[in-house]
Amino acid sequence: MSVSIKNQTEIEKMRVAGRLTSEVLDYIGPFVKAGVTTNELDKLCHDLIVEVQKGIPAPLNYAPGGHKPYPKSICTSINHQICHGVPSDKALKNGDIVNLDITVIKDGYHGDSSRMFYVGEPSIQARRLCEVTYQSMWRGIRAVKAGAYLGDVGHAIQSFVEPMGYSVVREFCGHGIGARFHEEPQVLHYGRPKTGLKLESGMIFTIEPMINAGKKDIKQLGDGWTVVTKDHSLSAQYEHTILVTDTGFEVLTVSDGCPPPPANV
Ligand code: MF3
Ligand code: CO
Ligand code: CO
Repeated sequence: MSVSIKNQTEIEKMRVAGRLTSEVLDYIGPFVKAGVTTNELDKLCHDLIVEVQKGIPAPLNYAPGGHKPYPKSICTSINHQICHGVPSDKALKNGDIVNLDITVIKDGYHGDSSRMFYVGEPSIQARRLCEVTYQSMWRGIRAVKAGAYLGDVGHAIQSFVEPMGYSVVREFCGHGIGARFHEEPQVLHYGRPKTGLKLESGMIFTIEPMINAGKKDIKQLGDGWTVVTKDHSLSAQYEHTILVTDTGFEVLTVSDGCPPPPANV
């Protein structure tokens, strides 16, 4: 199996799916408040995707090898949950940080993006972790260009967060994406410059660093999906879907409400 190069027709469909994905995140933001349950957020997103966008929420019933089908339409990972948190009837509370990860299929193509949301006022430490994680994603994105290497992307992220005492989760990575949710290549969020796959224009993949405030070790919960930090430290993640171009990159998961790229990272 190799890394596919998308043609103009596919790229245009990925732009459409990417924009819808980002618009779900724009839409759900104002609902993220103390007292709301993650099941309520899941239903709001599901209904927007299905009834308004006429798309498909890719996580619902997604069952990659070795996993039971994912039971919900979005992932909601709170505080020390790293990724794949499953929505439930538990309410969010003031000070929580939550990652909402949205994947929309439209016209056969996937957009995949996630952001952190603050429930009321987060602690200074929680806010800092989210900001650094966002900056680290952008460090990775800015390393993307035809002729660059995937190792450059991982190194840009790792070399930024580790000196701050944060750690990079190793078990989960970014991924190629297109007509399938998870395609080649695997996009590690750590690495060495000038190693790994050489990027070519027309490749599309996600960059989605999971950064822990404490140690990098993970633990899988008994629900078969939710992944948490072993030391119970806070974890944050942001994700964009990226097209490689000759001059650099195009972020496909964009919308009017999308947070602006950070300066100076
Ligand atoms: N959206 C996740 C990613 O970024 C994958 C979630 S798989 C699910 O790759 F089944 F948990 F939804
Ligand atoms: Co992804
Ligand atoms: Co995702």
